[in-house]
Amino acid sequence: MALLIKTDIDRGNAWAEALAANYPELKTYNWPYKGDPAAIDYALVWQPPKGELKRYPNLKAIFSVGAGIDHLASDPDLPAGIPVVRMVEPGLTAGMSEYVTLAVLNHHRFMLDYAAQRREKIWEEIPQIPAEARQVGVLGLGVLGRDALEKLKPFGFKLAGWSRSPKSITGVTCFHGSGGLEEFLAGTDILICLLPLTAETEGLLNRETFGKLPAGAAVINVGRGAQLVEDDLLEALDSGQIGGATLDVFQKEPLPGKHPFWKHPRIFITPHIASMTVPQSAVRAVVANIQRLEAGEALQHVVDLKRGY
Ligand SMILES: NC(=O)c1ccc[n+]([C@@H]2O[C@H](COP(=O)([O-])OP(=O)(O)OC[C@H]3O[C@@H](n4cnc5c(N)ncnc54)[C@H](OP(=O)(O)O)[C@@H]3O)[C@@H](O)[C@H]2O)c1
Repeated sequence: MALLIKTDIDRGNAWAEALAANYPELKTYNWPYKGDPAAIDYALVWQPPKGELKRYPNLKAIFSVGAGIDHLASDPDLPAGIPVVRMVEPGLTAGMSEYVTLAVLNHHRFMLDYAAQRREKIWEEIPQIPAEARQVGVLGLGVLGRDALEKLKPFGFKLAGWSRSPKSITGVTCFHGSGGLEEFLAGTDILICLLPLTAETEGLLNRETFGKLPAGAAVINVGRGAQLVEDDLLEALDSGQIGGATLDVFQKEPLPGKHPFWKHPRIFITPHIASMTVPQSAVRAVVANIQRLEAGEALQHVVDLKRGY
């Protein structure tokens, strides 16, 4: 049994080591693979070249190294009928909740304003707003959105979430569907996007959406860059409709050198690092899933490619 790994070299080696330690019967090969394509049973991939996966005629499953599978769904030659499994693992989830908590508290405690004051050597207090006076709203109540909300609970914020189907989460006011979006946005002071990239979520963070938030709201995008209309954000920041943003993902990555986000005083940016799969913990999820399939059982976390997540 053999598995092809396609990710960057360092992480590929870490995956190969973790798989060897946890599943010695499974042979692993780092991409590019020069052997017989028919010998590959499984692929564990991040952004493989388009058309690459159809080279392997005996693939039984494709594992995404990351939680998002848009890098696979966008391949017009993705082999049909092979299950695609998204990454659900505790290291990735914990990392995202750390990032989201940090970003929420940054906006809540006016850190962009204090950074601006520091540049001008201004020593001035900004009146604090109690957490219970602010609503934090999460777009996407999946594995990552729900965990982030759980981690935010102890701070005392009002919490809200929005998903496609109805949800019930203790301590979180839940909204769903296009009909629930407006009411969700109207109460949300700090908006977090943790949606998968699909035809429906592309461009969702736009002028109209920003206009429905209370004036001065903060936006945190940790979903995908294509969900944000970047010019609309700049316009909303200029008008004050949006007070600040934390962005981890961008339309074009790496962010081009001349992009206005680099120097914008109301935008905090990071290079798509909000959360990363940790091979040492993620390996257990991959191994368990392969063992399930080999035993004739159903795989976990298979995505619905038609739905897009
Ligand atoms: N920046 C980073 O470093 C990083 C790292 C990891 C993940 N991510 C991003 O985070 C995303 C979410 O991951 P996850 O594991 O939480 O995904 P997930 O478990 O599949 O959850 C997705 C959530 O989004 C909701 N949703 C999808 N389409 C929707 C729509 N059209 N309208 C309303 N809600 C919609 C789903 O609603 P239902 O519950 O009703 O299905 C679900 O609640 C990933 O797809 C990836 O793009 C980013």
